[in-house]
Amino acid sequence: MDSWEWNKIAGAVLGTVIFILVIRFATESLFEVEPPAKEAYHVEGVVQTASTGGTPAAPAEEAVPDFGTVLPAADVTAGKAVAARCEQCHDISKGGPDKIGPELWNVIGRPRASEGGFSYSSAMMADHAAWTYESLFKYLESPQSTVPGTKMSFAGLRSATDRINLLAYLRTAEDSPAAIPAPAPAK
Ligand code: HEC
Repeated sequence: MDSWEWNKIAGAVLGTVIFILVIRFATESLFEVEPPAKEAYHVEGVVQTASTGGTPAAPAEEAVPDFGTVLPAADVTAGKAVAARCEQCHDISKGGPDKIGPELWNVIGRPRASEGGFSYSSAMMADHAAWTYESLFKYLESPQSTVPGTKMSFAGLRSATDRINLLAYLRTAEDSPAAIPAPAPAK
């Protein structure tokens, strides 16, 4: 499906939501419309909010990929393009400066909140475990719900593929690229 079709679907979903809200308002809850516990289908970029059911939803728990399998197959060039979005706030080069966010050279395997000169949020400072593929994969999907109170004001990358490609690229921004784990044995 091309993006125009997705736009039509997103428009239809939005139209339905507005319609339901108007009906609810007009009837003063004469009949309760139970929001679905789960989206019937997921539209890229549409986040469930209070109007569609509950508080700004933490994204549904997502399976962590087998990095030993997905990283060797990842598209590093595509990951570099994703990283351009990070570079608004982060320098990724060796010895680069801290910007709005801390410099990210060597970030995989680096203890969390450990860039000396950078003033981290207390949320980020609460834990100094080394960043791993898995913790970065989760953090980058939704920074605010993974580290509540973080001052990284970035919505997150919904696409797991984008995050995997990005991690494959970030590996190359290291003194010695973080090891890729052995692939999990076939089940
Ligand atoms: C709008 C600015 C902004 C954007 C865009 C942004 N970040 Fe951040 N990032 C920050 C800030 C600010 C912090 C410090 C967070 C804190 O202290 O809570 C941070 C922290 C981090 C950390 C923790 C670093 C450490 O030393 O522990 C990582 C990892 C990170 N960002 C990765 C990324 C990646 C990868 C992207 C792109 C997908 C990205 N960020 C996009 C501003 C941003």
